[in-house]
Amino acid sequence: MMTLPHALRRWTAGMEWRRESVGKSGAMVFRLEKGRQVQYLKVRPRDNRLEPLSREREVLRWLERRLPVPEVLDYEETRSAEFLLMSGIPGRMPMDLRVDKSRIVRWLGEGLRYIHELPPDPCPWSRPNDLLVKVAAARVEKGWVDESDFDPHRRGRTAEELLDELLRTCPREEDPVFTHGDYTLSNILMTENGISGLIDWGRAAVADRYTDLAIGSRSLASHLGSEWVPFFFKAYGLNGVNWEKLRFYRLLDEFF
Ligand SMILES: Nc1ncnc2c1ncn2[C@@H]1O[C@H](COP(=O)(O)OP(=O)(O)OP(=O)(O)O)[C@@H](O)[C@H]1O
Ligand SMILES: [Mg+2]
Repeated sequence: MMTLPHALRRWTAGMEWRRESVGKSGAMVFRLEKGRQVQYLKVRPRDNRLEPLSREREVLRWLERRLPVPEVLDYEETRSAEFLLMSGIPGRMPMDLRVDKSRIVRWLGEGLRYIHELPPDPCPWSRPNDLLVKVAAARVEKGWVDESDFDPHRRGRTAEELLDELLRTCPREEDPVFTHGDYTLSNILMTENGISGLIDWGRAAVADRYTDLAIGSRSLASHLGSEWVPFFFKAYGLNGVNWEKLRFYRLLDEFF
């Protein structure tokens, strides 16, 4: 199983461990607690198909003074795995919070706008559409796309069919901003005062703002109900929805 690197043992000595989740991208997440101290340890096997945890570490460091994100406490790597230890963000995921849905949805929209308004200039990561489409095509070629994980309305279709559609529908105009890259409700923590922090930054980059609008609205619809999506767009400050882009970025997500 998992052998903890020596340096990490110093950090985690005496902490009470609880297994949190296994994410889509193959990371194991543990919650570590001692008294009022809460930390999270993310462990990911080395695998070319997965985004390395070292990238998430770099993004977290870059964001440290820019947004409410976990502090990186330690990062270790062994031949077979990577380990990222970070501080715990207080609060709950929006779907578990006992607050009016209208307030939650407003915070989600305003929070996303806030992220997108970070100056993108000094951001070292960029994911323009042509790059994303190339990576998607390479993943299809290598057989890395999980067809069993497609959204229900795409089940039964092949990765090649979806790639054809992706190439056909790739938007010409891009509107790049700093994006989270996986703005789902389970990556946002809130208290009754609003967003307390944002996690899971491994896919952050300068990219079209619709990458987050597409994933965010889909996650919101599935957790809180599709009737809330227009309120999310309104709180974000969107004037008119570009449905082609929404569809394209949701489709793109099937390849990763
Ligand atoms: N620093 C943190 N503070 C509070 N909660 C956290 C923190 N890190 C992780 N969590 C909890 O653990 C869950 C999983 O963590 P995270 O989203 O980073 O992993 P994941 O979804 O498995 O990621 P990936 O898909 O990138 O592997 C989160 O939804 C959240 O509930
Ligand atoms: Mg997550």
